[in-house]
Amino acid sequence: MRRLKRSQPAGGRLILGIYQPVSMRKGDQLASAQARERTVHAADPPGAPWWRHAVIYQVYPRSFADSDGDGMGDLPGTTARLDHLAHLGVDAVWLSPFYPSPQADAGYDVSDYREVDPLFGRLADFEALVGKAKGLGLRVIIDLVPNHTSDRHPWFLAAVADRPGGPQRARYIFRDGRGPDGSEPPNDWASVFGGPAWTRLADPDGRPGQWYLHLFDSRQPDLNWDNPAVRAEFEDVLRFWLDRGVDGFRVDVANGLVKRSDLPDWGREHRPRLASLDEGGLSPMWDQEGVHDIYRSWRLAVDSYPGERILVAEAWVEPAHRLARYVRPDEMHQAFNFEYLQAPWRAATLREVISRSLAAADAVGAPSTWVLSNHDVIRHPTRLGYPPETQLPKGIGEDDPQPDGALGLRRARAATLLMLALPGSAYLYQGEELGLPEHTTLPDAAREDPAWRRSGRAVRGRDGCRVPIPWAADAPAYGFSPTGRSWLPQPPEWRTYALDAQRGRAGSTYEMYRTALALRRELGLGGGSLAWLEPAPEDVVAFVNGDVLVLANLGPEPVALPAGTAVVHASAELDTAGEVPTDVTVWARS
Ligand code: NOJ
Repeated sequence: MRRLKRSQPAGGRLILGIYQPVSMRKGDQLASAQARERTVHAADPPGAPWWRHAVIYQVYPRSFADSDGDGMGDLPGTTARLDHLAHLGVDAVWLSPFYPSPQADAGYDVSDYREVDPLFGRLADFEALVGKAKGLGLRVIIDLVPNHTSDRHPWFLAAVADRPGGPQRARYIFRDGRGPDGSEPPNDWASVFGGPAWTRLADPDGRPGQWYLHLFDSRQPDLNWDNPAVRAEFEDVLRFWLDRGVDGFRVDVANGLVKRSDLPDWGREHRPRLASLDEGGLSPMWDQEGVHDIYRSWRLAVDSYPGERILVAEAWVEPAHRLARYVRPDEMHQAFNFEYLQAPWRAATLREVISRSLAAADAVGAPSTWVLSNHDVIRHPTRLGYPPETQLPKGIGEDDPQPDGALGLRRARAATLLMLALPGSAYLYQGEELGLPEHTTLPDAAREDPAWRRSGRAVRGRDGCRVPIPWAADAPAYGFSPTGRSWLPQPPEWRTYALDAQRGRAGSTYEMYRTALALRRELGLGGGSLAWLEPAPEDVVAFVNGDVLVLANLGPEPVALPAGTAVVHASAELDTAGEVPTDVTVWARS
């Protein structure tokens, strides 16, 4: 059992006996375990806008619910399942792309920004979805993909048909190659998915021609954001969807739209998704100053509509103060906190990242956000099933070491309760409320992620977190589709994760989420404050939000709660009342 050294109060309110061991609970011993609160974030004033504290649920339409049985999720399927999200208790839904697309990157390659791909339905289906969501009190955010189009977009087709230097090419980034015959790419940039970030075209006469830039797949040519026509087009696209009632946009690759104009070599190992300040310098393709003007103009457009609509940056930018520049008062409303997502299961790191995130967001008056899983990363019950510092940049396949599933789920539940108690806005990824792990033994033949192909099958990619989710233990495809078809195979163990196997079952992950979301709302945690309890044992994360004590024990020994504290929620059953076991988070009140 953990025992703490005596701590002397030095300002702030006294909390008695926060970490006291069970044997020290009574009378005169109480004061020997004093801890004090150190406030690092103040609560929002009453009536703050919804997005400062919202819980936003990511629907990945391909894998959420399939209504027509083709094995691919769709919008009518999503609409039919919105009741689930209302019952779960989230505030909003973010839909990953559903636009017409050749699906070279699962819809992040858009060929028409103002339509719905027949794979997912029709525009009327989208309108029905928004109508049903509003009726259930759910807001709807959609994905906007402005860094690149599909290579099948009419603009790119016209660019290919145009001459070098022609106006149609000016909407993209075309350059002559290097070397005497232009056979070398214009610079050394690499694609995020592997291989060079340039592809060479053939001229109309069949001879090798110019190169075009694609920071992602070759079928996702980067737009030229220095071209006013590109800017005008996207403002119009924003208005098209705002007119259809969307509550906001999640902006894909928000840190990538503007490149350094001279397109210099980068000259060092390419780590495209991690940081803007790499080894002390700004990379030439990420986080350029010019992106901020774009978001200032979008903010004006979004604010011209009623109803507190929002812009959310998907920007893999570190450190936190650089990310915060995207959410200055006249830019976006939120940015995903990927530093938090990537933090290992170490108490000291979590405390640091939480403090840093709140300070950076507070400095610009924005809410911090929190996220543990999405469609691009290994699901957190799987990540947490490996030793904390394990790096899995290539994904997981059947030949790789497999995670400890039980440990991963226990830690994932603790991580979730910790996250949902933090002030700010939290993002959930579909299926995490079921405790779904990654599919870590997906057959290679089933993989669709372009990273798999572009890396020469070295990087397994993101398919393992995109597998269609299980709704019903005994239905075909676990209720994902009426025919049992599923665009990625579901593992047999998923039967036990099905919603109908968890709903109403005390202690299930689903009920843990539902209770957490209800309490978070009731206790105002999202708009609340954060004060660290100090001194903190090395492997405990402990803070107070309002009058709720949140304690996550990442250490090997149980930790005792203060006497007179009542546990209101816990990520696992507590064997002994008042004690927080290893890898468990509790919410408690006195
Ligand atoms: C980020 C998206 O989340 C990811 O899925 C996609 O592959 C890239 N951007 C490129 O659009």
